Amino acid sequence: MKRIIVYESVCHGNTEKIAKVISEIIDAEMIKASKVKPKYLNYYDLIGFGSGIFYGKHNTNILDLISKMPNVTNKKAFVFSTSGQGKMEYNNYAKQMLRDKGFEVIGNFACKGFDTYGPFKLIGGIAKNRPNENDMEMAKYFARKFLVENISEI
Ligand SMILES: Cc1cc2nc3c(=O)[nH]c(=O)nc-3n(C[C@H](O)[C@H](O)[C@H](O)COP(=O)(O)O)c2cc1C
Repeated sequence: MKRIIVYESVCHGNTEKIAKVISEIIDAEMIKASKVKPKYLNYYDLIGFGSGIFYGKHNTNILDLISKMPNVTNKKAFVFSTSGQGKMEYNNYAKQMLRDKGFEVIGNFACKGFDTYGPFKLIGGIAKNRPNENDMEMAKYFARKFLVENISEI
């Protein structure tokens, strides 16, 4: 089963840390969304999409890429994000886009990430030092529990 993680991590490298941990566990390639053409992803059976959250949604490079992908069959996807608040609901928009394309969404991970957006900068940012060791452990647990089990089925 061919696996890849498509990500963007433009603010502080928060999401890249999570992408690396997950990619090691599921043995996936990693590529930035800005560097990949939608057709190239056809080659993969499992695709992870992750970035920071901007006004409640994933980075536009991720969302544009998904919107330009052709409809798929028999492909699995997962979504992850880092954000000041770390809310899982932030992943819903991208998840629905993927489902609309025909993906089976098998996993969803979110955690806090250092956030210096707007007024938060004045107080030195929020969610300092996140993702931390515990977040990394949670990401590893997520990858083993939701992704590795699915991979071995195929
Ligand atoms: C313009 C802007 C908008 C943001 N909007 C949100 C938001 O709606 N909710 C939230 O919790 N964090 C928000 N953040 C914080 C980022 O999602 C957070 O810092 C994230 O971890 C950045 O990931 P990265 O370092 O991988 O790019 C925003 C940050 C910026 C710069």
